[in-house]
Amino acid sequence: MKKVDVVLGLQWGDEGKGKVVDVLTPNYTVVARFQGGPNAGHSLHFGDKSFVLRTVPSGIFRDGSINVIGNGVVVDPVSLTEELKNIAAQGIPVKEKLLISKKAHIILPTHRMLDAASEAAKGKSKIGSTLKGIGPTYMDKTGRNGLRFGDVISKDFIERYNRLKSKHVEMLSQYKGFEYDVTEYEQTWLEGIEYLRGFKFIDSEQVVNDFINDDVAILAEGAQGSLLDVDFGTYPFVTSSNTVCAGVCTGLGVAPTKIGDVYGIFKAYCTRVGSGPFPTELFDETGKELGRIGHEFGAVTGRPRRCGWLDLVALKYAVMVDGVTQLIMMKSDVMNDFDTIKVATGYKINGEVVNHFPYELTDDLEPVYTEFKGWKCDICKVRRYEDFPAEFKEYVEFIEKETGCPIKIISVGPDREETIIR
Ligand code: GDP
Ligand code: IMO
Ligand code: MG
Repeated sequence: MKKVDVVLGLQWGDEGKGKVVDVLTPNYTVVARFQGGPNAGHSLHFGDKSFVLRTVPSGIFRDGSINVIGNGVVVDPVSLTEELKNIAAQGIPVKEKLLISKKAHIILPTHRMLDAASEAAKGKSKIGSTLKGIGPTYMDKTGRNGLRFGDVISKDFIERYNRLKSKHVEMLSQYKGFEYDVTEYEQTWLEGIEYLRGFKFIDSEQVVNDFINDDVAILAEGAQGSLLDVDFGTYPFVTSSNTVCAGVCTGLGVAPTKIGDVYGIFKAYCTRVGSGPFPTELFDETGKELGRIGHEFGAVTGRPRRCGWLDLVALKYAVMVDGVTQLIMMKSDVMNDFDTIKVATGYKINGEVVNHFPYELTDDLEPVYTEFKGWKCDICKVRRYEDFPAEFKEYVEFIEKETGCPIKIISVGPDREETIIR
């Protein structure tokens, strides 16, 4: 029996999960998404090609890989169809390589409208959702109203769709002044459903467990990050799924005893897109530099990402909740020219320093920093750990000591090749 390895973002998303999954895929036959939906944007770069994947697992471009959209994912037929047609245009046989769980829930056009209406009504306290309908779809899932891929083949699918849509229309009428028109989008949505009928809808928990028993190597690919988890993140400024490791169990039907290595990915600094607390956020030139050099703009929405120093209090919390067995550090190259690099090792709350992640990250919380001397040279061409400058190694080893977790992979650029495996 082979266990399922897991790749998870440990911060507020966009850590570089897409790149890492693509790099690790040669070691795996199956790549499976277990939560989230098209709110994700996972970038892949190889050779002169670049792609942003939203719902399709990041293993799709590797020869011979099987890619599973698990039951815990919410799928927008419009977005998934567009994505698959783009990938198919590259000569990738998507219909052979992609399997969709019958239990994955479907995002309706009116779910997107409900997301937009809810955010508009929240005004200043809005979550900063990607507006892809994620929250309302998970609400219908837990409210036991949702439509699933397995329903697509049933005779009364359209009737059921119309019933749920009517319910949404009724709900939308509560949002006074919110205007919308889904007619055109609904047409594209129905075309998407038709296109996706040509794919294999599977009992994914059975298929995944058969793979496990047959010793097939599986990698579970997380979306978002642990600090956006609906239970453990900075609630209410979170997404609506369990992004932590436990999400693999419920989102794929994998028993906890069958989880293997947990790869926790973090940026050498920190970013966040959307609203919500961010203790180490920088509002000065350094913050702008991180954003400029790191090209920190949302892969889905294009929104500028907020940038700041690495937060070890939050990172340690994610390592704990996720049971991370090895760390992967991304985008270290972005800080090549920095004189000084800071890392938060505690929070000062009411004059007292705490080292654990508190219930609430209040505005008066002050990060306590440890400073490091910058390495001040280009590390993009380095391919062996021994060849990194001493200042860089000091940074890496400090993080390992604080988290109690080895950093096994270091990424120094967006390309597949710009990766050091220790
Ligand atoms: P994901 O959502 O976790 O897959 O991450 P995104 O794709 O949204 O954002 C990560 C961005 O950083 C993408 O544009 C990647 O191409 C880029 N990237 C990944 N690793 C590195 C790295 O080591 N250095 C640099 N400079 N860019 C990287
Ligand atoms: P990947 O997988 C970064 C953020 C949104 C918003 C909050 C809720 O690319 O790392 P939602 O649309 O889920 O209702 O938005 O979560 N968010 C992400 N931020 N990366 C993501 O995905 C994200 N998916 C959602 O910006 O603050
Ligand atoms: Mg992303």
